Amino acid sequence: MSQNPASGTPEETAPYGSGSATPSPEASSPVRRVRTHHLREMKERGEKITMLTAYDMYTAATFDEAGIDLLLVGDSASNNVLGNETSLPITVDELLPLTRAVSRSTRRAMVVGDLPFGSYQASPEQGYCTAVRFMKEAGAHCVKLEGGAEMAPVIEKLVAGGIPVIAHIGFTPQSEHVLGGYRVQGRGDAADRMRTDAKAVEAAGAFAVVMEMVPGDVAGEISRELVIPTIGIGAGNQCDGQVLVWQDAFGLRTGKMARFVKQYADVHQVLLDGARAYADDVKAGTFPGPDHTF
Ligand code: KIV
Repeated sequence: MSQNPASGTPEETAPYGSGSATPSPEASSPVRRVRTHHLREMKERGEKITMLTAYDMYTAATFDEAGIDLLLVGDSASNNVLGNETSLPITVDELLPLTRAVSRSTRRAMVVGDLPFGSYQASPEQGYCTAVRFMKEAGAHCVKLEGGAEMAPVIEKLVAGGIPVIAHIGFTPQSEHVLGGYRVQGRGDAADRMRTDAKAVEAAGAFAVVMEMVPGDVAGEISRELVIPTIGIGAGNQCDGQVLVWQDAFGLRTGKMARFVKQYADVHQVLLDGARAYADDVKAGTFPGPDHTF
């Protein structure tokens, strides 16, 4: 993981937002924002790219401090923040404020706005208008959209209009009803289709591509064939980078987890212990004590 992937000029020093969530002692030192060419250079150097989801200021500031390269304000906020069962119901108006909170709270990470279901599939013009809202109103540095070759015209329109695009192929959660549920994509003959999709989104101008639930060997071959970085989720370790949903990776969500998730922390347990200790203190009348009373 790179703390300093940038090799750019002084003009590239980040124009920091006004609202850093946790101003640190280094807050005044220049930190360069991760840009699309840094990710390409990382791929060329064989340096892995890190990406996590984030949906609020404190997690965004924490992951930024940890040196995570990209923060995805995923439409997975639908089922990880808003309480829906799937990513389908979330709207642009619901996702914009979360994206704004994340972009305001980071100094280095590239912030990725995720275009919700139904907000770009109708036409390149619809996609462009939606993506502009994420860039203008929410301070995203790029957007992500789901789909392969069929999305090439949308990607071309956005890139021509100044919006960097990450494509998302393989299992695409917004199409779960067409795909027949959460299933690995690109097995057997379908590997050729996956390769065609990856090349089509690269040719259309995407600067990176997320591959979700794709066999590791297929994802590895595609990663070697593309110039742009690939970012895997359930796609093995031969991709150029990895992404996970933070509530899965750090154990805020409990219950059955996809096989590709590795749990790095147990935030649920930490919060549970904290909430119980607080409740015990309040009920016992020991909080607030003299130290916490004016
Ligand atoms: O919205 C999201 O969290 C995603 C990741 C699964 C890549 O698209």
